[in-house]
Amino acid sequence: MLHFPFLKRRSSPRFVLAVFLCLSGASLHGLGPAQSSNSNSSDAILSGVVTSQVEGEMEGVLVTAKGVGASVAVTVVTNDGGRYAFPRSRLQPGPYRISIRAVGYDLEDPGTVEVRAGSTQNVNLRLRATRDLASQLSNVEWLLSVPGTEQQRNALGSCVGCHAIAFAVKSTHDTTAWRSVLHRMRNYSSPSFWLNPIKWPWEVPPRAGDADLAEYLSSINLSSGPDWKYELKTLPRPKGVATRVIITEYDLPRRESQPHDASVAPDGMVWYSDFGLPYLGRLDPRSGEIKEWRIPVARAGAPEGSLDVKFDREGNPWIGLLLQRSVAKFDVKTETFETWAIPEEKASERSRAGMVAMGPDGKVWLKTSVDTYGAHLLDPSSGDITSYPLPLSFYGTDSNSKGDLYLASLSDGVIGELIAKTGKVTIYPTPTPRSGSRRGHIDEQDRFWFGEFFAHKIGMFDTTTKQFREWPIPTPWAGPYDAIRDRKGYVWAGGMHTDLIYRLNPVDGEVTEYLLPTLSPNFRNIDVDSSTDPVSVWLGANHQAKIIRLEPLE
Ligand code: HEC
Repeated sequence: MLHFPFLKRRSSPRFVLAVFLCLSGASLHGLGPAQSSNSNSSDAILSGVVTSQVEGEMEGVLVTAKGVGASVAVTVVTNDGGRYAFPRSRLQPGPYRISIRAVGYDLEDPGTVEVRAGSTQNVNLRLRATRDLASQLSNVEWLLSVPGTEQQRNALGSCVGCHAIAFAVKSTHDTTAWRSVLHRMRNYSSPSFWLNPIKWPWEVPPRAGDADLAEYLSSINLSSGPDWKYELKTLPRPKGVATRVIITEYDLPRRESQPHDASVAPDGMVWYSDFGLPYLGRLDPRSGEIKEWRIPVARAGAPEGSLDVKFDREGNPWIGLLLQRSVAKFDVKTETFETWAIPEEKASERSRAGMVAMGPDGKVWLKTSVDTYGAHLLDPSSGDITSYPLPLSFYGTDSNSKGDLYLASLSDGVIGELIAKTGKVTIYPTPTPRSGSRRGHIDEQDRFWFGEFFAHKIGMFDTTTKQFREWPIPTPWAGPYDAIRDRKGYVWAGGMHTDLIYRLNPVDGEVTEYLLPTLSPNFRNIDVDSSTDPVSVWLGANHQAKIIRLEPLE
């Protein structure tokens, strides 16, 4: 049974009168005293109040400013007085376009806004009820709206790997058409997405249950009329602490890029892999400059594209080359790649080697999954690879300070431990069965923090005491893919279905949920730069070709 007690109606509408009072009162007060000083609206270069007829001043509206012709967009969120404020340090003077995210509403376009140095530009924004709510729903909102069993909705949720659920529910396919569409979908490789279809080099037969799925899909789409036969449900907007945030989005040069992992190097540069294309990219957060390098082909004929990005002691990125079954090191000084392949006899054509973990001694852990399960310890100085068989399929990995490998199994809901000295493997089931432990990061205290994709929890395995802890995330289909702890002690995760970034306080279990400005970003791994103040959380928007930086202000 699915039960969503959090789905409350929005806070009671305020009246139009209150809006006029606020507007005429020139209430240029800041976003609140608890906020960091550099974002008071007295320091603002662009500020204003967001209102609508129905709600009056609106809290939790994401307001995005993007320079005309620019590739960087900055987003802030309105406070409980409906006020938004862009800190002076975040927008260069010049012409800007404004957009918003507030489900159920469209912006009455204020036109191009001229931001000037030395003054605060006041631009109040008016929202009106949207006529196209369906185009604003996130994946989780579709999953909450459609009728169906949990199993049927989970099948729908699995489409999100390659595109939004909107593709399915807005279509007009009947059951017969769905059967052939599903057959086509099954034959796309997992690094595909809607703008870059990549077929498996082999034929994939229909799955058991696809006939039933076809029937289900034709019952929830527009095959029998122009409207959906169910109510479209929406999640509440952010409020309180979740509105105190700055989000910066950097557009990548290629729209068909899929920045799967965005990892921050010790010098603050952000390096990203591309799930479908053979490029390694680098974003300089100080200048916004983006540079990409083509990764050499390691295995001709196999799909290119990469996944995990980790750094060695010299700050060079290492990238897991997935179906190329290899790892690449990029030398930042010479700007050249060096690649090592998994031994031929340790993998099959379908095996993947997307993960990398850096040992404390300069050795590098690789991992194969699908058909053959193995961990492979590479000594880059000699090129020697020592392989260890694994008893089951693992997904994300990380090494602790002793060089032992910790692995999360999405399929089996366990954490595996591989002791580097002895090769001994021990399996630790997560407290929640079938948790969907997916990817994670080891912190300075050798604790492995990981996302429980199916259980909608953040998990922690202490590699010293072998004890687990788990914390639930309140939103359904929260589906955390990955988790990482920052130096202040907060743990960060992101949901592939929800467009939300979660910040967990492990001491009291409180979770703050930050909404991202772009619909269906589809982010996967998460990284955090604790050297900035506030910390910078980094993600790749896999389906929107953007790198995202989130800075919590409280
Ligand atoms: C492995 C990647 C992948 C998965 C998983 C996937 N799709 Fe797709 N889908 C694509 C790609 C690529 C396109 C665009 C190219 C095309 O239409 O063939 C697409 C397009 C579509 C379209 C629009 C085109 C059309 O024929 O109507 C629909 C509808 C669709 N998918 C439904 C689904 C459903 C339903 C699921 C989940 C049960 C799903 N897809 C899962 C890759 C995928």
